[in-house]
Amino acid sequence: MKKNTILAVLMAMTAMTAQAQTYLDPNAPLEERVKDALSRMTTHEKVQILHAQSKFTSAGVPRLGIRQLNMDDGPHGVREELEWNTWNPAKWTNDYIVAFPSLTCLASTWNTEMSTAYGNAVSEEFAFRGKDIMLGPGVNIQRTPLNGRAFEYMGEDPFLAGEMVVPYIKAAQANGIACCLKHFVLNDQETDRFGVNVNVSDRAMREIYLRPFQKAVEKAHVYTIMGSYNKWKGVHCCHNDELLNGILKKEWNWDGALVSDWGGATNTLEAATGGLDIEMGTYTDGKTKESEFGYEMYHLGNPFEQLLKEGKVPMSVLDEKASRVLRTIFRTSMNPKKVIGNQCSEAHYDVCRQIGEEGIVMLKNEKNILPLDPSKWTKYHNVLVVGENATRSLTQGGGSSELKTLRDISPLDAFKKKYEQMVDYAQGYYSGRAMYDFVDKIDEAKQAELKAQALEAAKGADLIIFIGGLNKNTRQDCENGDRESYDLPYGQNELISELAKIQKNIVVVTFGGNPYSMPWLKEVAAVVHCWYLGSEAGTALVNVLSGEVCPSGKLPVTFAEKYEDYPYVQYGKEAYPGVNKEVYYKEGIFVGYRHFSSNNVKPLFPFGFGLSYTKFAYGKPTTTVEGDNIVVQTTITNTGKVAGKEIAQVYVSAPKSNVERPVKELKGFGKTKLLQPGESETLRITIPVDELNYWDETKNGWARIMGPYTLNVGASVEDIRGKVEVDN
Ligand code: GLC
Repeated sequence: MKKNTILAVLMAMTAMTAQAQTYLDPNAPLEERVKDALSRMTTHEKVQILHAQSKFTSAGVPRLGIRQLNMDDGPHGVREELEWNTWNPAKWTNDYIVAFPSLTCLASTWNTEMSTAYGNAVSEEFAFRGKDIMLGPGVNIQRTPLNGRAFEYMGEDPFLAGEMVVPYIKAAQANGIACCLKHFVLNDQETDRFGVNVNVSDRAMREIYLRPFQKAVEKAHVYTIMGSYNKWKGVHCCHNDELLNGILKKEWNWDGALVSDWGGATNTLEAATGGLDIEMGTYTDGKTKESEFGYEMYHLGNPFEQLLKEGKVPMSVLDEKASRVLRTIFRTSMNPKKVIGNQCSEAHYDVCRQIGEEGIVMLKNEKNILPLDPSKWTKYHNVLVVGENATRSLTQGGGSSELKTLRDISPLDAFKKKYEQMVDYAQGYYSGRAMYDFVDKIDEAKQAELKAQALEAAKGADLIIFIGGLNKNTRQDCENGDRESYDLPYGQNELISELAKIQKNIVVVTFGGNPYSMPWLKEVAAVVHCWYLGSEAGTALVNVLSGEVCPSGKLPVTFAEKYEDYPYVQYGKEAYPGVNKEVYYKEGIFVGYRHFSSNNVKPLFPFGFGLSYTKFAYGKPTTTVEGDNIVVQTTITNTGKVAGKEIAQVYVSAPKSNVERPVKELKGFGKTKLLQPGESETLRITIPVDELNYWDETKNGWARIMGPYTLNVGASVEDIRGKVEVDN
């Protein structure tokens, strides 16, 4: 063989070998790995990676050594292993995990360092369990206090949700775990979730509902996003061309993979052309029932391949989808930097407890009945704890975010541990078990007996700690259904009032993901709201109640005095939950405090409100413009007697113009370190000038009016401590 032929063969082999390394070469640039892998795949292999191969995995390419994607719920921890093809638990014995606090609790910390710690810890558990994509976090907006899944989200304000979700995503993805931000978009209720069509103004869509997702794309580079079941402009969001190809992929220049919610794809041509990249499913035959290995029946399976074969969809669409999936694989399961992680480490329990401690919000503390300082505890001789949530595990239930924990310390156990002196307990009410659409029937006689026992026990108590609230039962903070009332369930309101008549030294502690009515507020001495605290619930709660930790949490939602005060209620059922599966967000941009503040509706507890065991003084705010940022500085001084942290908030008031604006909008916040009595810290809060923009529907784009803008610096949206003007 001639020399140059041998050389050519050798070069070809080298090239092949070298080429063989590219997609497998962990050091090769990502896009070269994607391109090389794609060039080696058949059409069928490219289609196979676009849909489920089991309940929680999508296929890789075994022939090429390209790994599958392992996914799992949810935002607060790794769900227990389910069987390959069904929703049944696989009954593994090594899948116990840490349940972290609910995301509404994380939002209540207003502490981006807590978000980073949360994202790092929870993703380490996902990694250790061999997962590549975690199905969370969620940033849908709490426009109604009845939303069954509000506990999985980060409040009513898009700025707070966006700022708090970015560090969580960055930390998780730094560990080689893809977040799957959900539910994109407008999944703001559970009623008719599979098909409700949301009618919303472009301005509210952009300024309120899309905004947290946009921040996660532009500031955290979220790797995957989950399309929501509902419709927008009459098209399911899991394959909505305008939403996914128009806004998400083109306008926001997003290079990730759009994953459907389970069973969220409803139409083959739309799934093919509407921006869906990975179709996940509820059942194996596409969506309606279990059948052996029916995954190729999915819209993005054989039906899609048929469209390609018939030339009805160009191959470029297939390559674009497959490239996004390959990019996700190389960012996670085949990412050499993906961590091993760990499960149930003390470090994770510490993060869980710290987030809980910082997320608990103290709403009332008359005559400083709190903290229950153990050294002064002896003044109480008979302490009675009442309420089912004192003993109930709140890490279960709630739907797909439920968790199987190794350790769960209940409030009652934590009380007994902290306060050697016995605390008596009376359940007071019961709720039974309930999930999705079945609910245990409440035996009224049993309920009355529990109440009578509690009232009898109260007669001998000199301090009552009531621990109740919602509990992730069906319609009590649970997926697939909304609450049917703004009131606490199971007769709690009446029980609290009757307990308070017997003993005015009563502290009410509630769990739950949503605001609720408090008809007994004037009758009780203190109120503490905990959201859901996860595995360390009891310890976090007792550490705050005892004063070991000074409460610093502040509300990410508005607690209205009465349900009718929420902005959409005035517009009737069309505004919620909709009529004939059409819901109209008639309040527009005036969601939550934007409505209460702009219409002088006094809330029970305003957005951004939270009490402390100490007090803080705010120095006069100053502001400078530094490039594209407005910088606000304010000096916070602890003027009380115990150490504590303070959250300062900056609400922007736009100048009067013909553009309707809320009187105040949160555009910055900062949290001090733990300040000792007398200690000060100057907070430097940076506000990008673009945050002053509004969506101009006439231009279909962002616009900004000329200043001056007023920057309101305060301890809550209603408690403004200083103002300063800035020209933009
Ligand atoms: C559910 C939820 C989604 C979850 C998925 C998988 O329907 O809407 O949040 O991640 O299915 O359990």
